[in-house]
Amino acid sequence: MLRVNSDRLRKSLEEMGQIGYGGPGKGVSRLALSDEDKRARDLFVSWLKEAGLEVIVDPIGDIFGLREGSIDAPPVMAGSHLDTVREGGAFDGALGVLGALEAIRTLNDYGIRTRKPVAVACFTDEEGARFQPCMLGSGVVAGLMTLQEAYAKKDDAGISVEAELERIGYKGNKWLKPVAYFELHVEQGPVLDAKGISIGVVEGIQGIAWWQGKYQGEANHTGTTPLDMRRDALLGAAELVCSVRRLAEEMGHDTRTTVGRLHPYPDIINVVPGQASFTIDLRQYDEALYEDGKKRAEALVAQAASNHRLEYELEMVGDAKPVHFDPAMVNLVEEMAREAAFSYMRLPSGAGHDAQYMHSICPTAMIFVPSIGGRSHCPQELTDFDDAAKGATVLANAMLRLAGS
Ligand code: GLV
Ligand code: MN
Ligand code: MN
Repeated sequence: MLRVNSDRLRKSLEEMGQIGYGGPGKGVSRLALSDEDKRARDLFVSWLKEAGLEVIVDPIGDIFGLREGSIDAPPVMAGSHLDTVREGGAFDGALGVLGALEAIRTLNDYGIRTRKPVAVACFTDEEGARFQPCMLGSGVVAGLMTLQEAYAKKDDAGISVEAELERIGYKGNKWLKPVAYFELHVEQGPVLDAKGISIGVVEGIQGIAWWQGKYQGEANHTGTTPLDMRRDALLGAAELVCSVRRLAEEMGHDTRTTVGRLHPYPDIINVVPGQASFTIDLRQYDEALYEDGKKRAEALVAQAASNHRLEYELEMVGDAKPVHFDPAMVNLVEEMAREAAFSYMRLPSGAGHDAQYMHSICPTAMIFVPSIGGRSHCPQELTDFDDAAKGATVLANAMLRLAGS
């Protein structure tokens, strides 16, 4: 079995984690295609070159480091993303990218020439925190969104993906499609940590539905407008926050619903809010329940509007179906964990990952390592570096097995 260099992996994670670090309690902020994302990309590219890899940037800004094999074939690929949510952690995404780089560095250390090429991938805008939907880069590679659709996505300030790709110098011109895809990631949930298990063998990913909406009511004076004459948009949105939460409780089966953004307008103490914009995030692993949940969430938006005499706009901005990974790939991850004598268990993923889209074009699987206290998408996100190295060891051996030597 290959053993990765855990010190080197740790140093890479720590150095990358400095980019966008905001100080104690502020975590890491590397929103997609921002200046911080560019600095992270530049550092990653310098490491790809140091490792002797061919650097490929595709038209949606995904970065690949390709190590040739003894035959000319599509590569066995592993990766994830380097963008983060605002005030996120240093492991979400970075572990999958730098773990894959560490796997390739380890092949270099051992002097192994694989039969098929291998590649490390860093996908653009996995988080969807700045540009919705999430998993933009892998979505384009998988053909689930056109390049032009992706280029046209805009952030809150109206800046487009295409303009930002050009500005930071990561609008490339060559595509790379793999024969198989692996993704190492922190679990971002509490299961592995609570059970004291090092490796999660991921069986699939739950569906993710995202909406952006806006209630339109009537702004008016708070002191003079009788309650029964108001059309309070924030009140409608507040009702929606609660009814969307109740929907998850009623549906059961680990359905998760969240209103993560809510903005009243004009946002003034003595004005009845005339407008309120909001988002909805719904997650469910079962395909039929997922589809049902989507309909019910949309009905709740209409219901709260009618209860408060509001007009509304609602746009679905993300719809990643639940996926179940290729059983042979999942078995391979399990076999590598067993051979390395690491504790492991099977589980589904609660978070979205580029693997969710790569699954639609090639056999795909994921490896999880524990998140301490189950914290993620927050400054408290943390994973033990020994567990990170175990995950990279499983990844390196799975890649080698598929690429052949
Ligand atoms: C991606 O991080 C998601 O699950 O929202
Ligand atoms: Mn991630
Ligand atoms: Mn994330």
